[in-house]
Amino acid sequence: MRIKLAAGNWKMNGTHAQLDQITRLASLIGTPMAEVLICPPAPLIHPMSQIAGDTIKVGGQDCHALTKGAHTGDTSAAMLADAGASYVILGHSERRADHGETDATIAAKTTAAWDAGLTAIVCVGETLDQRNSAQTIDIVTQQLAGSIPDLATAANLVVAYEPVWAIGTGLTASTEQIGAVHDVIRDSLTKRFGQDTGNGVRILYGGSMTPKNVAKIAATPNVDGGLVGGASLKADDFAQIVTALSIA
Ligand code: PGA
Repeated sequence: MRIKLAAGNWKMNGTHAQLDQITRLASLIGTPMAEVLICPPAPLIHPMSQIAGDTIKVGGQDCHALTKGAHTGDTSAAMLADAGASYVILGHSERRADHGETDATIAAKTTAAWDAGLTAIVCVGETLDQRNSAQTIDIVTQQLAGSIPDLATAANLVVAYEPVWAIGTGLTASTEQIGAVHDVIRDSLTKRFGQDTGNGVRILYGGSMTPKNVAKIAATPNVDGGLVGGASLKADDFAQIVTALSIA
């Protein structure tokens, strides 16, 4: 039985003033069945972890592949853990696009995350051009194979399927499209890592998930939660997503 994960990705949004959303979120969700995670910008990880309580976990949005050194502007996985993070998002399409991250970079970062005791949320997903030219399955399986190192377990890995064309656009993949890709991801994890890990790793959908569409998406086989951008910024919206995932 996989526990659903409601993961919020604040991206480059929020200052200390927005931490009141965490207090409100905690009061709205009580003790939900779903696991709840917020990944704020790095400067907010520590203060958020101080007020998040036991119910809301805190994560990073990226880490460096090395533990320390002359890498101006970067943050190591151990620093994220030290600040209070238990998860880190890796290989988000915005980082693949803005920072030229390759599957190999993401695999190295994932190993670094594991070494620091973090659970990695590895993101995969096709662009609209790739979908329109029937490359979705090839792209996703290639990204999975290249971005996930050999030592994956059900505890240290979460996969997020995020079609690039659905992120921040208000366009959501259909449940047929989501189901088809999630099935392929589940199969490929099982083939590579065996039954226990393959069945245990949670696969999230991400891309314009909202309180309105979450229930339908969450009812799709092999959808184990959501990676939520815009709708995670407001406690009232995200609380509805947490509640819907808790009963899905
Ligand atoms: P969105 O972002 O919910 O705003 O589409 C999702 C994500 O990029 O993780």
